[in-house]
Amino acid sequence: MTKNILIINGPNLNLLGEREQSQYGSITLDKLKDDCIKKCKELNINLEFTQSNIEGEIVNIIQEARNMYDGIIINAAAFTHTSVAIRDALSIFKKPSIELHISNIYRREEFRQKSLISDVVTGGIFGLGSDGYILAIISMQKILENENR
Ligand code: DQA
Repeated sequence: MTKNILIINGPNLNLLGEREQSQYGSITLDKLKDDCIKKCKELNINLEFTQSNIEGEIVNIIQEARNMYDGIIINAAAFTHTSVAIRDALSIFKKPSIELHISNIYRREEFRQKSLISDVVTGGIFGLGSDGYILAIISMQKILENENR
């Protein structure tokens, strides 16, 4: 059966391509979205790709995802380091979830080296650039496929 996955992008990721290119490269969020849609088509996955700068909105999106999606891939951006609310929402989501970061947060400022969500998600990808999104989709597909064995 075709699986439904949700990719959530947190604050300031709408400005990819413009912000800190040394960390995040020159790809825009629109291009990244197109690449993810292409990969999901190849893998026969339905994809919803979303971005919000608002913490509570992301909590709502995760809550609503419980009955709509088989898995979540999340780049919570700055909220990774601060949001107990997003962490709690992810632990309520009982299906597979992948934490994603374009940069290697463990090689950056000390305040970025702590993730509040790492221990409630299935797994994580960081420091591999925007390719991390494609790798996360491939991993999610494998996780969901193995679930059905
Ligand atoms: C990020 C890393 C975060 O520390 C930062 O606040 C971001 C992006 C990443 O993808 O590398 O906005 O999540």
